Amino acid sequence: MKKITVSAPGKLMLFGEHAVVYGHPCIVTAVDQRMFVTVEKNSSGMFVLNAPEVEVSNYTKPIENLGVGQIPKGAKFIEIALGNLISKYNLKPAGLKVITRSEFSSKFGFGSSSASTVCLVKAISELFSLKLSQRQIFDISYKTVLDVQGKGSGFDVAAAIYGGTIYFKKFGSEIVPLKISDLNLIVGYSGIKADTVSLIDSVTKRFKGLEELKDEMLKAIGKIVDDARVALENQDFAKLGSLMNINQGLLEALGVSIEKLDNMNSASVASGAYGAKLSGAGGGDCMIALSSKEMRKKVENAIVSVGGKILSVKTNAQGVRIEK
Ligand code: PMV
Repeated sequence: MKKITVSAPGKLMLFGEHAVVYGHPCIVTAVDQRMFVTVEKNSSGMFVLNAPEVEVSNYTKPIENLGVGQIPKGAKFIEIALGNLISKYNLKPAGLKVITRSEFSSKFGFGSSSASTVCLVKAISELFSLKLSQRQIFDISYKTVLDVQGKGSGFDVAAAIYGGTIYFKKFGSEIVPLKISDLNLIVGYSGIKADTVSLIDSVTKRFKGLEELKDEMLKAIGKIVDDARVALENQDFAKLGSLMNINQGLLEALGVSIEKLDNMNSASVASGAYGAKLSGAGGGDCMIALSSKEMRKKVENAIVSVGGKILSVKTNAQGVRIEK
């Protein structure tokens, strides 16, 4: 039976988290740790999913019941994406077996749910000769993310599809690939799992009655993103570092940073990084520091000394692709 494997990269937010949810731009880079999804057609009448990294083993459902009834957490994105594809493109699969495999832990905040959604959509596009464009893959994957979690800008979906480093605005209203070389980025994992949706909600709560102030702060983050875009293109690392520190300060004021991340950032800057900030929703997951090649080891040691774990990743990775 026909079978296909697709992979997509994880992501790291460089600048602009939270503000992007309100319509401001952000900059995201794809990382060289990938998610793999294999889809096989068969005639069983069933959808079967194995996703070991999210503890889903032989989850089985009749194809016609996709999206109906209880869905285990780890199966949601794949099942809803498949249901969306079947109804939008009027597909009649006789049976499908889906297997996912990840090179990175779903705890890091690298966007494993979005990457697996994008892989599934691309794989179905190939298996059923739909010839979906990147834009069509974005639209149906982003719809799936909103169906499952209700909120999100779609930046992680765009990173998984387009790869590289992109300047992005909500709903994909702007997706601009930036022509930049690899960054000497250090990634520190806090060991704490962040919940994106509750962190987005926490910003709304914190600024209740202070909405204008919140808007000004988010606008300032948008300005940081625009300046960072120019600094990235000019390889002005000192300026990028300052912008990271200022972006971090605003994220702290929004209330989404935590002591562990603050300590990892401060340790990085004190040991010679150009700048450092949390990456993603905050509340845990990862921080990033930008340093020169010479200072790299020192900065890494400083992050480890305050309890962080260094994750070895390269930026600017290739977007979604067919493996075989
Ligand atoms: O938690 P992550 O890594 O998915 O990042 C969230 C970034 C936000 O701006 C808070 C949300 C979003 O979808 O843009």
